[in-house]
Formats: sequence, C-alpha cells, structure tokens
Amino acid sequence: MILNTELEYKGDLFPSKIVFYKKHVNVLYFKSENGVVLQLTIERDSVLRFRYSTTGMFEKDFSYGVTMHASKGYNHLEITEDDNKYIITTSKLICHISKLDMRKSIFNVKDNTLLSADEIGFHWEESYEMGGDIVKMSLKSQQGENYYGLGDKPVDNNLKGKRFQNWVTDSFAYVRGTDPIYKAIPFYTAIHNNLSYGVFFDNTFRTYFDFCHERRNITSFWAEGGEMNYYFIYGPEMTEVVSNYTDLTGRPQHMPPLWALGFHQCKWSYYPESNVKEITSKFRKLQIPCDAIYLDIDYMEGFRCFTWNREYFPDPKRMVKELADDGFKTIAIIDPGIKIDHEYSVFKEGLEKDYFCKRADGPYMKGKVWPGECYFPDFTKPEVREWWSELFKELIEDIGIAGVWNDMNEPAIMDVPGKTFPDDVRHDYDGNRCSHRKAHNVYGMQMARATYHGLKKFSYPKRPFVITRSAYSGTQRYTSTWTGDNVATWDHLSIANLQAQRMSMSGFSFAGSDIGGFAEQPNGELFARWIQLGVFHPFCRVHSSGDHGDQEPWVFGKTVTDIVRKFIEIRYTLLPYLYTSFWRYTNEGIPILKSLVLFDQEDANTHYRNDEFIFGEKILVCPILEPNSKGRRMYLPKGKWYNFWNQIIVEGGEEVWVDADIDSLPIFVKEGAIIPKYPIQQYVGEKIIDELELDVYYKLGKESSEVYEDSQDGYDYKKGRYSLRNFTQVGKEKSLTIRQFKSGKFITNYNTFKFNIYGLPFKIDKIVVDNEEIDISKINGVITFEVVKEFRELYIIAK
Ligand code: GLC
Repeated sequence: MILNTELEYKGDLFPSKIVFYKKHVNVLYFKSENGVVLQLTIERDSVLRFRYSTTGMFEKDFSYGVTMHASKGYNHLEITEDDNKYIITTSKLICHISKLDMRKSIFNVKDNTLLSADEIGFHWEESYEMGGDIVKMSLKSQQGENYYGLGDKPVDNNLKGKRFQNWVTDSFAYVRGTDPIYKAIPFYTAIHNNLSYGVFFDNTFRTYFDFCHERRNITSFWAEGGEMNYYFIYGPEMTEVVSNYTDLTGRPQHMPPLWALGFHQCKWSYYPESNVKEITSKFRKLQIPCDAIYLDIDYMEGFRCFTWNREYFPDPKRMVKELADDGFKTIAIIDPGIKIDHEYSVFKEGLEKDYFCKRADGPYMKGKVWPGECYFPDFTKPEVREWWSELFKELIEDIGIAGVWNDMNEPAIMDVPGKTFPDDVRHDYDGNRCSHRKAHNVYGMQMARATYHGLKKFSYPKRPFVITRSAYSGTQRYTSTWTGDNVATWDHLSIANLQAQRMSMSGFSFAGSDIGGFAEQPNGELFARWIQLGVFHPFCRVHSSGDHGDQEPWVFGKTVTDIVRKFIEIRYTLLPYLYTSFWRYTNEGIPILKSLVLFDQEDANTHYRNDEFIFGEKILVCPILEPNSKGRRMYLPKGKWYNFWNQIIVEGGEEVWVDADIDSLPIFVKEGAIIPKYPIQQYVGEKIIDELELDVYYKLGKESSEVYEDSQDGYDYKKGRYSLRNFTQVGKEKSLTIRQFKSGKFITNYNTFKFNIYGLPFKIDKIVVDNEEIDISKINGVITFEVVKEFRELYIIAK
C-alpha cells in the first residue's frame, strides 16, 4: 500500500570510506562502503583519468572526444598506502586518495607542490526524472589560481569568478557574456605557482563549470547525466597542457591545403552565377588576394541539400571550373535538415533506410529550418555517417566543390523553445542508444565528421576542407570552425579576438570570426580594423547576412580598400610562416594563436591580458578595438621586440604606447626570429615561388626558427615529401651566425633564399657562406643578399 507519493529528495550523496582496492595494469579501482567505485587510469605520467560509478558498474567506455590514437604509457608507476591514504606515483605526479572519503589531492613530483585537491570532491544527486545521476566534482581553488579555455565563450580570457554551461546553441547576435553559444568544449586550463594543469570533463550531457563564482575558493564542474569522467592533464607549461589535451582529443588529421589559409569571401548569399562572378572578378581587378568564394543556402533548390537551383546556377560544374581557372575555390554550405519532400531523393533514401532521428515514442523528429519542415539524419549512427559521406560524390567529384561548410548543426530548429531537438529524441550514439540529452553536444561534430570523410574520399588526391559551426571536444580532428552569427560592433571585434584565442587555447586552432560582423553593417573603419585582426586568425573569412548592405573589401571607399588589400597581402606573404605554425599544431598540438598567458605564464602580468596575442611562434599582434584610434597602449611580453613596420627595437615587460593609425596595427617580431615570406599572390599557386625571403631579426644570443613546406596540397608529405628547415641564429657582439638543418624529401621550387637582416649592431666586414665569401659590395642600407638554399652555415662578421 503506497501512502506517500512525494518524491524523496536525498540531496547530495558522497562516497564513504574505501573498503576495497584492486589494480589491473594501469587501472586502479577503489570501492567505497556505499558502493561508489573510482576507476583511476594512468594514461601517461602526466595524464590521469578519474571515472566514478555510483552503482558499482560502469557504462561502456565510449567517447567521441578521445581519439584512439592518444598516446599511452608511462615511465614509472608505484602504488603504496599508509593508514590514511593510497599514494600513486608516476614520473610526473603524485596522487593521494583518502581512505576515509575517497577525496584526492595531486602533487607534482618535482617539488611536491600541491596542484589540485578535492574540496568535497566527487558527489552526486540521483535524478528520478531522467534516471541516473547528476554528477559533480568540486575542487579547492589554490592561492592565486586562474582559469582559461572552455571553447568559444565570449568573455575575457581569464575565467575566474564566472560560471558557464556547455550546450551547443544557435545564438544569432549573441553578446559579450552570452552563455552557452555554439560550442561545447569542456576543457579548461588552470595555473598557479607557475604550474599549469588542465581538466577535460569528457561528458557530452549539458555540463557546467564554476570558477570560484558561487564560492570564492571553489572550482566545480557537473553534468546533468552520464558519468563523472575527467582527465587531469599536467604541464607544467600551459602549452604542454594544451598539447597533451590534443594528444588525447586529436589534432587535425592532416595539414589543410595551403589555399585554405588564404583569404575567403562569403555572404548570405551570392547568387545567381553572374553575381558570384562579379564578386570574384572584382577581387582580381582590384588585386585583392582571395582564394575562396562561398555559396550560402540560396544555391540550392528550395534549400534542399545536395541540389542546385538551376535558374540561378544553370551549370554549376562549368561555373566552378571557371572560378577555379581564375584561382577561386568554391565552397558550398550543407545543413543537417532534410526537407520533407517525397519527390526528393535524399529525403526518400533517408526515410527508406531509416536514417532519420525519431522521438521517444516513434514519430520522426520533425523541425523547421530554412527549407520548412525537415527530418534530421542521426549522425551518431555509423551507417548514417557513411551514407552522408557518399552523398558528397557529385558535389565534390563531379562538380568540383573544394570545401563544405556545415551550418545549423547544433542542430538548430526554428520557432521552438530551446532552439533545438526536444530531450526525448533518440540517437544511436554508435550503438550506445541514448536521448538527445546526451547526443546534443556531439550531433554537429558527428555531422562534420561524416562530411569530412565524404570530402576526404571524393577530393582525393587533394586534401579536404570543412568548416563547422557546432563542435564538441575533438572536432578539431576533422574541420575548421567559425564563431557563428556575430554583430558588426566594436565590442564584437574584441569578442572575436577573445574567441579566436580561446579556441586555440582549447585545442581548436583552425578558427576565425565572420570578419566585419554577420548581423548589421560595419562602417569602413570597423571593417578595416576587423580585417587587420582577421588576417592573423588561422581561418580568415569575411561573411555577413547581406541584409544590411554589402561587405566586400571595396564597398567602404578607396582608403579602406587599400588598407584591406595591404593587410590581406601581409597574410599572403606570411603564408609559409602560418603554414609552419599549422604544421606545429598538427604535429605537436602547439596552439597557433597564443594568448600571452600561454606564451609566458611565468610573467603574472600576462594572466589578465586579453587583447595581445602571439600569431604563430614569433609575431605579436594587438588589434585596435576602438574607433578613432591613432594607436593604443599594449603590453609587450618580456624580451626584446622589433616593431614590424620600422624595425625599431622595444624592450618588453611593460605597457607601451604604440602608434597605429587606421592603415597600421601594432605588430612586433620577437628578436632572434627568422620569418619566411612568399611573394604576394592573388591566390595560392598563382606564382611559382622562385625565392624564399627570410627576414632575420638579430638577437644577442641564440634563437631558432622553423620553416615547413610541402606541395601545398595532397598527401605526399605524409610519405616524407616535405621540407623542414631549422634555422638557428647565434648573435654575438661582432658576429651573427645562421645555421640551417634541413630534413624531408620535398624539393622546393626555389633555389635561393633572399635574406633581409634587421637590427645588426655592427658594420659588416664580410659575409661567409659555407666557407666562401659572398659579394657584399652592393649591400647598402637594408642588408639584403641571396644565398643558395642548401647552405649550412652563414657568418656575418663585423668590421
Ligand atoms: C546561419 C549561419 C550563417 C549563414 C546563415 C544562412 O545563420 O550562422 O553563417 O549565413 O545561417 O545559411
């Protein structure tokens, strides 16, 4: 007989004392008296995985975030215990687990500094409504600890004092502080005592992170379902933390084709064909470099994916070919919603094969997007992803589209609460059936993944190029991304800067904003300032909604056009430098953009900086974020910096005023850098590179720089056909030596380097290249000379 029908809320529940311990190779199990199991996996000496079960049983171990290629193995593992705790020691970390309450603390081996300690630690609430638990973790914030990362949050770099949630959301015209927006990257880095570690909470449910917001000294994170399953990733350098995180969640599976690092022009929408051509011809006429032109949804027939509006685009194949002949790659948008139309082959096939998402009780998930009522492929099902990949055959192989833009893949649904699927929608989740609560954050990622595989197959032997709006941790393996529907305001220029830095710090470097703003229209000054920032973002595209006027480089008058051209040209000359940074990113997981805290964490001044960042390894950029500026104050990190425009040397470690009228921007080069440059091209491949320029910035001391090159597309580089040059310069008071070490089998077209030497503190007596003196009689003013590319050692000797 049931008398009480009120729900019994038990509140927070906690593990009790540990009664059982077992070790299986690198996995340790601790069981509490009340049935909680902590599974601690030693992934690497510096990476520990904590996984908790409140029932004694774990779910199947499956993750979209973690790649199967993640490094495993450790040098040292020792487990001991005393009366109060278990002590797990690797070559980098010591972890204590308290026998009384399962709480843990983690120390570094080097000097026993406490890195992280549980406050309450793991705890949970039972969720009667949904089943399972709301799983929580709370950690003590250490003295002076600061926090960074978390994907695309439109806020200051330093996250301390704030709370966030991760639930990918279509966020048209978001503002500073809007949360959540398009991405769910449940990974943050922390720093205190010059030691950095990271936390990757690999849980795809709606997750929350609180950085000392609710309680001053407590950092916590929790999820509305699933497991408490997180990785503790140690540095001590923040770059190492990010690199270890991308080792775990993956790096781009290959280099982007070089053209993808060029400038892209987009609008909603360029149509018909004559309009597209008008735009592309104008780029060429005005000599503004551009590599890619985009087709937004209006190229389709009634917004049906994989179709063409033949009235606007009577012969897409011919058009794409003509654009390609003029140096333009065509990129087309593909959304997830498939129009309900029994005459439409993609819809019919999806229906026949049972590929569309369904509601809990059986009906299809029906929702409105651009084409009207749609069904949506369940991209979390492997068979659906394969089908989706195959759908690209015609678009890519036959028509010649070079890249695909995946949008609205949160998935975004119009005119409904929450702007997405209801929670009860079912997903396959690669055989781990679940509701949308669990699959929502990875839906877009799985769409981008399927798109990527389609492109990879049909673009072969060229490299694929994909761009996505929604993302979960790990999406960086497949695609580039942009920051969604921003607005043409000065504040958004600053937000774009923060988001690009934050994405880089969150393991996803190939990111950029809609330059100039998606909604509304910038004035010429804002557009120029945005271009000046955008050319230093790994993904560089102008995009706008188009309903507030045009946003091509030439619509703001000649002054702005000239500024835009000048900065896009700078990007094109720096392509080998950016490409080299990309190579470091794909190989070592080094973020392409480095917020100052990532560049010099030891200098506490950097912990609160927002505007300045390092582009690649050696170039410091600080955007101008206010109208009518003639310059700005900025912080120069410690060390000596050369002003990019006039090569004047400035000592860092303090704030300085830098002049930067509308046609300029504060840009500095780190002393000792060797920066490779290509000639200006209207598009990648326009010119045969017959000389590589190397700008050398003298430093008293030693510094090395790399230049990576390959055939700019294709996969030959994976077989060793790349060229990696390592240059070391050693500057002394009366000499400068540059040594080159080359590896890789790729033979570059050019035979010579053109050296430009800046900042030499002495007059030259002679220059000796591999024991032979070169003619310096013509050197006058700027020190410029040519050297064969095979040289090993170059000496510049003072008079
Ligand atoms: C979404 C996208 C935007 C695109 C538009 C039309 O708003 O974020 O970039 O232009 O849809 O496809």
